[in-house]
Amino acid sequence: MIHPTILPSSKFSEKSHIKSLSEYNSLYKKSVQDPEGFWSEIARDNFFWHKDFQKTLEFNYDREKGPVSIQWFQGGQTNITYNCLDRHLKDHSNRTALIFEGNEPGDNSTLTYQELFSEVCKFANVLKDKGVKKGDRVALYMPMINELVIATLACARIGAVHSVVFGGFSADSLADRILDSKCATLITADGCFRGTKLIPTKQISDKAMQICEQRGFQVKNCIWVSRLGDKYPQTKEHAFKRKEGRDFLWQDLMLSASEQCEPEWMDAEDPLFILYTSGSTGKPKGVLHTVGGYMVYAATTFKYVFDYRPEDIYWCTADVGWVTGHSYIVYGPLANCATQVIFEGIPTYPDAGRFWDVVDRHKVSLFYTAPTAIRAIASKGLEWVKKHKRTSLRLLGTVGEPINPEAWRWYYEEIGNKNCPVVDTWWQTETGGILLTSLPGATPMRPGATGYPFFGVTPTVLDPTSGKELEGPCQGVLAFKHPWPGQMRSVYGDHQRFEETYFSQYKGYYFSGDGCRRDEDGFYWVTGRVDDVLNVSGHRIGTAEVESSLVGHPAVAEAAVVGIPHDIKGQGIYSYVTLNQGFEPSDELKKELNNHVRNEIGAFASSEFIHWAPELPKTRSGKIMRRILRKIASGDEKELGDISTLADSSVIQTLLQHK
Ligand code: WTA
Repeated sequence: MIHPTILPSSKFSEKSHIKSLSEYNSLYKKSVQDPEGFWSEIARDNFFWHKDFQKTLEFNYDREKGPVSIQWFQGGQTNITYNCLDRHLKDHSNRTALIFEGNEPGDNSTLTYQELFSEVCKFANVLKDKGVKKGDRVALYMPMINELVIATLACARIGAVHSVVFGGFSADSLADRILDSKCATLITADGCFRGTKLIPTKQISDKAMQICEQRGFQVKNCIWVSRLGDKYPQTKEHAFKRKEGRDFLWQDLMLSASEQCEPEWMDAEDPLFILYTSGSTGKPKGVLHTVGGYMVYAATTFKYVFDYRPEDIYWCTADVGWVTGHSYIVYGPLANCATQVIFEGIPTYPDAGRFWDVVDRHKVSLFYTAPTAIRAIASKGLEWVKKHKRTSLRLLGTVGEPINPEAWRWYYEEIGNKNCPVVDTWWQTETGGILLTSLPGATPMRPGATGYPFFGVTPTVLDPTSGKELEGPCQGVLAFKHPWPGQMRSVYGDHQRFEETYFSQYKGYYFSGDGCRRDEDGFYWVTGRVDDVLNVSGHRIGTAEVESSLVGHPAVAEAAVVGIPHDIKGQGIYSYVTLNQGFEPSDELKKELNNHVRNEIGAFASSEFIHWAPELPKTRSGKIMRRILRKIASGDEKELGDISTLADSSVIQTLLQHK
């Protein structure tokens, strides 16, 4: 197959940090031949270290040789907030750090670096006052408001480990995450509007804290921001409690807080945050990142991948509740002293032109979003795009899932008027920052491919059966041979799970869980997960999580969940459900099951389809044959492949009858 390639414009290349493919190639070569030299120079030249590091890297990827461990910049001490705030104040205290764009157009405000610094110090003092110390875990469950960024940084300032839980998760999911890492402090808000929908954040937090209590754990402090204040609907349905001695209003506590707060000097390998993500088993994993390496990697990738320069206005539409928001809203941009938009709303409110309205009003030049958002807006028609000028844009980015070439072209041609390079960035919660991407101005782009490795990154395509490295153009699974500074260090509280998940399948490699193709020109094409993880609108969700929620309903005996292609969401959830005796299939029950999953996990985990399955296809050893379920779900039942290992092949006929 011949793939068209799009070259960066010379106008862009002339000014970009890396100006040509040959410059990229030579720097890349240097970075992988001597990763320690490469990263130690970047770390020393671009960051403030309270104490210099002695050893750049020490690692072991091979379980047979001992525990897996990855340590960067050992002996070094720093504080990531010093690098994101303090050091900018001398020359840029009046530069805008955050341009807040609320759910309602017109609800705008700005915060300079000086103001952000003061707010962070004040809230850090509030946390200290409440007894939060270095190493303590703090849960954040908040809307996309400035206070979320402030609270995240305040934790990092005092060395507390933040665990941000995406505001779309349910009370049960929040409780699970609070319990897993024993967060005695929870920071939240009364609620927010997303479009016309009220999210009763504090009410959900109350429920989560109650669940924690029932399970023997007490949240000691709950600090909540009054986001809606008078606008919070005073209805019984949405009411929330204020528990004396536990609940404190953010605005009250901030009144008397001091603006002086010295940073806690952290060892490079001290924990910075935990972020829970879905895997192929039922329980989400607490991905653990540490201070030094993560800081260096998030900030450096931000600078080069988005070709950031001081006159840019940057906007990433992700939520801080996901890793994209951690690395490319909070830490990467702020470490580079960037000015950025923080957006509370959704792409289609008040209309499908919202993104471009915000781009025009705030003169956004670098724009980063997810393929699912691009597809959703594209489906509403070009008139919403044409209404706005978009002339400030100079670079477009995508993340979270494979982008189909049509959506890529629409983005490049209609949004960017063919003037803006598109960076399709592949990475994971586990990787801390972007690993595969095109480099704007330097490398050619190929619609649908995620491009080339970032500096210091050594992707390898492995044969899934033999585990051997494949050469040249090939297809297999994506793994990495050598650590980069932003790599996760462990699963919180379960190092063995870390080793088993990422380092046991292919000896000596970090295994990503993604399938991958390398074409004749060395472009990487990530084809999606090869494990039981789905990617719905860019949200990672394990099939096992949805299954265990479904079987938690009294009507359900057994459930099997697979992904199906979805025009907008990328993947949709298709659930096969076997009912217990005494329960009959009905549309009501379908609704009830979806509500049940919604309450237990969150709205994004609802099934697109529920298929009543009197029985599931199993092997003789009782293993569900998901391959068959995937085929039936996506309408490929004529090509089921080898079904000789099925214990009872009549199950298939029955399943098809119930479709
Ligand atoms: C998928 C999000 C193709 C992939 C930053 C990965 C992608 C998972 C891309 C991680 C991309 C992310 N092209 N697939 N550009 N970016 N993915 O942890 O399957 O939420 O393993 O991190 O998303 O999702 P996570």
